[in-house]
Amino acid sequence: MSESLASRLQLENISKRFGATQALKGVSLKVLPGSVHAVIGENGAGKSTLMKILAGALKPDTGSIKLEGNPFQAQGPAEARQGGISMIYQELTLAPDLSVAENMFLGIEPKLLFGCVDRGQQRKKVKEALAFLGHSEISPDTPVSQLSISSQQLVEVGRALVGEAKVIIFDEPTSSLTRIDTQKLFEVIARLRDRGVSILYISHFLEEVTEISDHYSILRDGEAVAHGNLKDIQLDKIIELMVGRSVEEMFPRREREIGEVVLTVDHLVGDGYPQDVSFELRRGEILGIAGLVGSGRTEMLRTLFGLDSVWSGKVSLKGHGEIQGQSPQMAIQRGIGLLSEDRKEEGLLTNLSIADNLTLSDYKSISSWGWVDEKKQIQSTQRRFKELRVKAREPRQVVGDLSGGNQQKVAIGRLVHQDADIVLLDEPTRGVDVGSKVQIYEWMGELAARGKAIIFVSSYLPELLGVADRIAVMNRGRLSTPQAVEELTEEEILRLAVMEQEAH
Ligand SMILES: Nc1ncnc2c1ncn2[C@@H]1O[C@H](COP(=O)(O)OP(=O)(O)O)[C@@H](O)[C@H]1O
Ligand SMILES: [Mg+2]
Repeated sequence: MSESLASRLQLENISKRFGATQALKGVSLKVLPGSVHAVIGENGAGKSTLMKILAGALKPDTGSIKLEGNPFQAQGPAEARQGGISMIYQELTLAPDLSVAENMFLGIEPKLLFGCVDRGQQRKKVKEALAFLGHSEISPDTPVSQLSISSQQLVEVGRALVGEAKVIIFDEPTSSLTRIDTQKLFEVIARLRDRGVSILYISHFLEEVTEISDHYSILRDGEAVAHGNLKDIQLDKIIELMVGRSVEEMFPRREREIGEVVLTVDHLVGDGYPQDVSFELRRGEILGIAGLVGSGRTEMLRTLFGLDSVWSGKVSLKGHGEIQGQSPQMAIQRGIGLLSEDRKEEGLLTNLSIADNLTLSDYKSISSWGWVDEKKQIQSTQRRFKELRVKAREPRQVVGDLSGGNQQKVAIGRLVHQDADIVLLDEPTRGVDVGSKVQIYEWMGELAARGKAIIFVSSYLPELLGVADRIAVMNRGRLSTPQAVEELTEEEILRLAVMEQEAH
């Protein structure tokens, strides 16, 4: 059939078992030339196993692979690479003491007549590859150990390129990259695609996958549950297929008691936004704030936290009465915590360690005689690691090196450490993988059950409806009266978000 002729790569009925774990169950998939094919699935779905089989690093129990219509059976990664399939591993596999050029040609050195390595030829090819990837600034002679993680990754890609790869596999390539390096990598991937290379792109970050890929396959519990063109599927549907439950089922609701009023906001007007905001917030409550981007939700949280000034109106806090001229420092002392929308800009100090970030809001509990007690700080950090399931090497690791989901968990950990009574969350699940999203919802439910009060700003209506007790809608700086979620629908919220308002 023309379909099979056109496909670059075909996997048929691949199965793999590790002891008691059936990691893959009869997976089949096809990849087209010049395509970025996303392999999507939760942690443990079998993505890496499938890719390692393809790259010759693992032997399948059953099944077959065809590359351009011919059976492909590699005995090990080196043979797979020579056959045209290269994998960029999660943990990089370069020889740190060798140069960029030496690494790129490791195992495939062009030979001169008497078996010597042709260094001139090698350098030329390496330069060409780096230029093609848009990174001529990397010198072929630099030892790899002196390069940043993102440049090392480029060397790996360069290695695939000089080996004339037809298929390049990226397994979670951005988990230790910054946003800027991720963008650069995406440019590299686009160039490879335009050259006709087939890319297999593995990630559990959906926003990222949909940005770079054109086709997809979804794995769940070792099975391929869906394939197709990304432009034909909605994000909600992908999530549903990944987790095997509907989006509604992702929100575990916990019984909780709504208590006394802890915050009263009365006709609050800020400098510009907000225009007019009134509501009461109670203990044990999650108040959802919907609205379009730019409607003033972030400004409302900033004003309540003391980052932006109050123009008119009243804010009263239980135990403190009416508060005026509040600074963020005072807000923290009064038990208000903020998780800001832009965790990189203002939420986290990305060049400090996880331990420092986590304990910044309250040095007292980890100090002895006025000095930070390193041991206490590390212990406290490790406790948070466990609670929030942060994936990091160690407490001293710099926050900027972590993935988005893990950075967000550190930002949340800071709020937990602060033990705030009123928690302001601005888009807490944006840019976070699905598994971490569910953990964040669980954490919010737990906080509310412990009697904390939460304001939850989100642009994603299913999660607002799934998690909040009441929802109010911001529209051009004005907040609607909060309503119980049971009384609201997505349509009604959207109507409130875009409706023209009468003059005040
Ligand atoms: N070498 C191994 N030994 C035992 N179990 C493994 C091994 N590699 C993977 N697994 C298991 O196989 C399943 C799929 O893992 P993996 O392919 O790494 O998933 P993913 O990459 O989608 O997160 C998991 O349950 C994992 O624990
Ligand atoms: Mg994996």
